[in-house]
Amino acid sequence: MKNVLIVGASSGIGESLKLNLEQAGMSVYTAGRRPVSSSGHVFFDAGSNEDFQIPEGWPSEFHGFVYCPGTINLKPFSRMKNEDFLSDFQVNFLGFVSVLKAVLPSLKKANGASVVVFSSVASVVGLGFHSSISAAKGALQAMAISLASELAPNQIRVNVIAPSLTNTPLASTLLNSPEKIEASGKRHPLQRVGNANDIASAAAYFLGDSSSWVTGQVLSVDGGLSTLK
Ligand SMILES: NC(=O)c1ccc[n+]([C@@H]2O[C@H](COP(=O)([O-])OP(=O)(O)OC[C@H]3O[C@@H](n4cnc5c(N)ncnc54)[C@H](OP(=O)(O)O)[C@@H]3O)[C@@H](O)[C@H]2O)c1
Repeated sequence: MKNVLIVGASSGIGESLKLNLEQAGMSVYTAGRRPVSSSGHVFFDAGSNEDFQIPEGWPSEFHGFVYCPGTINLKPFSRMKNEDFLSDFQVNFLGFVSVLKAVLPSLKKANGASVVVFSSVASVVGLGFHSSISAAKGALQAMAISLASELAPNQIRVNVIAPSLTNTPLASTLLNSPEKIEASGKRHPLQRVGNANDIASAAAYFLGDSSSWVTGQVLSVDGGLSTLK
């Protein structure tokens, strides 16, 4: 049986992914601020700069690790404070570093493991008011590709999913009326915003055996926004 750690499975994409993986017969362990009932859950606040630790009694082998915490802090650059940049960097980038350091020995032991992180369409194309989140996600994306190279000899694959606007609690202020959902949808070539399962199913692909020869990739799951006119 495959063991997968999801940080951030209490809502949105992580919650949808957890259901998807459990239906596929995997054991899902979770971390985050809100408790999630599954094989095991540990409290973790990615904004706290504290070292993550694998709890006693958890398996010694993990075949998958998915990091979901993210932020949407959209403001004109002139109104962004240094603290805004630091806080986005902490949650989106340093939180991942902290968990990966702790789980890496268990991923190495599995002799075939997959790491998935989420960047953003804003790291692939220029979008106004996204200076901080594009920087934090861009750093995560770039590091993930470097890690894919470094960890390939350990049979650990590392891939990135770059979503566009997806209807989850994270994006609730941008999508809190039918009119906003419709207007945002129309900005995408496929004429709709994403839903949690659109993104979770791409993550499930990266965690499964069908992607066993795929590493170091950035998959845009964005209704065509980043590449089509
Ligand atoms: N939704 C979008 O439009 C969109 C677009 C581009 C990229 N993304 C990326 O996709 C990923 C998943 O986002 P989502 O839309 O599914 O968001 P979501 O519905 O808000 O879910 C985020 C999950 O991460 C956890 N989390 C958030 N902050 C945390 C923290 N400080 N410490 C620990 N856990 C934390 C939350 O759990 P707790 O609250 O229980 O801790 C929650 O389970 C994020 O990285 C996001 O940046 C989303």
